Parts: sequence; structure tokens; C-alpha cells
Amino acid sequence: MVRLEGWERLRAKGGKVIEPRISGLGVYVPEKVMTNADWERLVDTSDEWIIQRTGIRERHVAAPEEVTSDLGVHAAKKAMDDARITAEEVDLLICATASPDTLLPSTACWMQPKLGLEGKPAFDLSAACSGFIYGLTVAGQFVRSGMYENVLVVGAELLTRVMDWQDRSICVLLGDGAGAAVVSPQGDRGRILGSKLHADGTYGELLWMPAGGTRMPATIETVEKRLHYYLMRGNELFKIAVKCMAEATGELLQELGMANEDIDWVIPHQANMRILQALAKRLRVSWERVVVNIQRYGNTSAASIPLAFREALDDGRIKKGDKILLVSFGGGLTWGALMIEW
Ligand code: ACO
Repeated sequence: MVRLEGWERLRAKGGKVIEPRISGLGVYVPEKVMTNADWERLVDTSDEWIIQRTGIRERHVAAPEEVTSDLGVHAAKKAMDDARITAEEVDLLICATASPDTLLPSTACWMQPKLGLEGKPAFDLSAACSGFIYGLTVAGQFVRSGMYENVLVVGAELLTRVMDWQDRSICVLLGDGAGAAVVSPQGDRGRILGSKLHADGTYGELLWMPAGGTRMPATIETVEKRLHYYLMRGNELFKIAVKCMAEATGELLQELGMANEDIDWVIPHQANMRILQALAKRLRVSWERVVVNIQRYGNTSAASIPLAFREALDDGRIKKGDKILLVSFGGGLTWGALMIEW
């Protein structure tokens, strides 16, 4: 029924191609900041190791009473304000998260009444750190088809609650935050030119949460073995990350008839400073053209791209007409690249 309505809307537009745009962007990070020195007091690590191996100096940590949907709601409201739309005008809510409020219902459903979107369709998208790029792509297709006009895409993560605070190989890397975008045909900025998405589940166990699902339901034993936390084989992911992001970018550039030199800004998922440096080298993009804020937020998974994007808009780096490459890699494995003309 709704689908027909969408096609009808498309026909009403005379079959013209509708161009999806990012018409609003909002972010939120919790107030509390945790430094590397704070981690030195909790696990066997050092400020020097963390900075040298990752580039991270501090990260934000949610308050005990906050949940993932709260972070997402703050960001979503700012994105709606930025796009100058009201709750009534939102047609669909997509929440990309790898740290949901609950397995059932979705975090999008928890967010929905807090945003005044009752009755509107809402669903979660599971693509870990690539969630924002996956979400923008899905939203873009709904807008392109004419089915929906304003799609709210949220990347919200409360990773400090799903990681093991005793596992130094991961706990120092992650942080909490959220970012949101309104995707619609409105406005004169943020045109989504195209995207390339990929996944390879054969590498699923490189970054996963073993227990708590149907594969290994939660028991006292799984909790004692700390299997309900993220487990990551970081150095194996490292090499694959650079290769996959560079390849997806190459495919996208080819499809769009663009060259590496046409990229004005790279906004990558912020997982590791060394990954970003290697990527810039592979893409032959100068380091000044890469938007980096991992120092202050750590890895915030699906929230990291909008956090960096908002920062580069606010400080005036991004100018009208700039070509912006969003590129990411994460658990799944999932990866993708998306090009925007601002
Ligand atoms: N403090 C001090 N030492 C540490 C720490 C720490 N916090 N963590 C690990 N080490 C030690 C290890 O035990 C190891 O010691 P050993 O040599 O005595 O065995 C040594 O440091 C080197 O460990 P590596 O894992 O080889 O270190 P590496 O240089 O690869 O850095 C890191 C690790 C930061 C995890 C890096 O591999 C990385 O960033 N990988 C990519 C992560 C990623 O992209 N993930 C996907 C996206 S995230 C998402 O989807 C949520």
C-alpha cells in the first residue's frame, strides 16, 4: 500500500529522477571526558602506547542513566533543526547502531516516541562502523524512489557499555556519541552523488560479541567468561581496513567518472590514526584534506563520520561545491564509500 503510494508520488513527479541530499546534520557527545591517564589507572596501558598506536587522547563516556537512544535523540533533534523540519515532516527513522538499547525492540523504536514520531516507520540497521554510510545509502534510495521525502538517519553508539573494561586491547579505543542526518530532496547542499557498499561475513569473528544472541544465549558461564562483550582481533582488521576502503573508493570514483584529485575532503570512520594515514597515502590525498578528530572522541563506530563531518562544516573547512568522500570499515565485516557534493 505504502509502496504504491511511493510509486504514485514518483509518477506525479513525472518520472523525474529525485536527487537525495543531506539537508541537515546534527551531533551529540556525552559530557564526561575520559583521558588516557584515566585508563592508565584502570588497565595495564600507557598514554604513550595509546597515542602512538591509535592517535587517541581522550573519549566521551555516557552517564549511567543515558542509553543509546538518548544519544541518538539529541543528535536527531539537532539534525531536524538544521534541516528546518518538524517531527510531522519526518517520514522514516533509521538508526544505525552496534550497541542497541535492547535486542528487542529496536533502538529506532525506543527513539521514536522521544522524537514525537509515533506511527512513523522506524528500524535499526546493523552494519557496525559502516552504519552511517549504509544508512545514508538506504535513505537515499527511499528518497530517490519518491516513497519518502524526509528520512532521518541516526548513527548512535554507547560502546563503553558493550566493551570489556578489563580488556586493554579494545577498551582504550572506544567512545560514545551520536550523529544524525536528514536525507531529503530539499535544499541546495549535500547532494549524494553515489555510494558503494560491501560486506564479507567470512571475517565475522574478527570483531564480534560472541554471547547474548541465538548462537550462544547468555548464561552465567558466558557472563563469567566475559563473552557478552566485544572481542576484536585488531591487527588482523588493520590491514584489511586500508585495502577495503581504498578499493571501495576506487570503484566509486570510477562509477562517478571522477579521479582521486577531484576529492576535496575525505571524512573517514575514525578507528585508528595510522589507518587514516595509510588510507590517505593509498588514495593519494594530502593529509590536510583528511578530516580527523579521533584524538578527542576515539572510535565511536556509526557516529564517527557525522561527528567529523559536523566539525568540518562548523569550522568552515567545507565550502559549497566541495566533493566529500565518506569512507568506512567495521565489524561484519562491512565497508563502503559515499560521495557528496556540498
Ligand atoms: N596498552 C598497551 N599495550 C597494549 C594495549 C594497550 N591498550 N593493547 C594491546 N597492547 C599490546 C599487545 O598485547 C601486544 O603486546 P605483545 O607484543 O607483547 O603481544 C602489543 O601491544 C601489540 O599489539 P597489536 O594488537 O599488534 O597492536 P597494533 O599496533 O595492531 O594496535 C590496534 C592495536 C590499535 C587495535 C590496531 O590494530 C587497530 O586499530 N586495528 C583496527 C581496528 C579496527 O579498524 N576495527 C574495526 C572498526 S571498529 C568497529 O567496527 C566498532
